[in-house]
Amino acid sequence: MRVCIIYVSFHHGNTKKLVDAITTRYGFDAFELKEAEHVDFTTYDVVGFASGIYYAKMNIQLTDFIATHHHEIKNSFAMVTCGMKRRKQKQFITDFFKLCEINLLGIYTCRGFDTYGPLKYIGGIARKHPNASDIQQAYNFIDTILSK
Ligand SMILES: Cc1cc2nc3c(=O)[nH]c(=O)nc-3n(C[C@H](O)[C@H](O)[C@H](O)COP(=O)(O)O)c2cc1C
Repeated sequence: MRVCIIYVSFHHGNTKKLVDAITTRYGFDAFELKEAEHVDFTTYDVVGFASGIYYAKMNIQLTDFIATHHHEIKNSFAMVTCGMKRRKQKQFITDFFKLCEINLLGIYTCRGFDTYGPLKYIGGIARKHPNASDIQQAYNFIDTILSK
């Protein structure tokens, strides 16, 4: 199965850490969003999108990109890292992919080191995340995606 992941990770590289672990283990292709314009998505069975959560949503340039390319994507999954897990983050992703008419195979979320805004004055939150357990759960998530 041909899989690629398009990602945005600018705060602490938390999302990139997950993407790197997955691409090393599974041999998937991965592209930062800024390198993704040339990718031919029609050659992939599954296109995953990964991002930090910024203002309760996936990165806006990434969602714009997904909306633009929606007709080239058959199946997808989403992976996000966030300072604090909230139900509305998953709901946003579910609603967004539905609106884009992309088959969403699953959503993975975990916490990621967050020093945004006033959090920097307390040394941040979720300091050690994503950790080994988060990465193992990401592998389990990918195994489930591949079995679908
Ligand atoms: C501008 C900005 C806004 C953020 N907004 C949220 C938010 O609404 N909810 C949340 O849980 N975390 C928020 N965070 C924390 C990030 O989601 C978290 O640190 C994430 O792991 C960053 O991923 P990255 O290092 O791959 O960019 C925000 C971080 C930044 C820099």
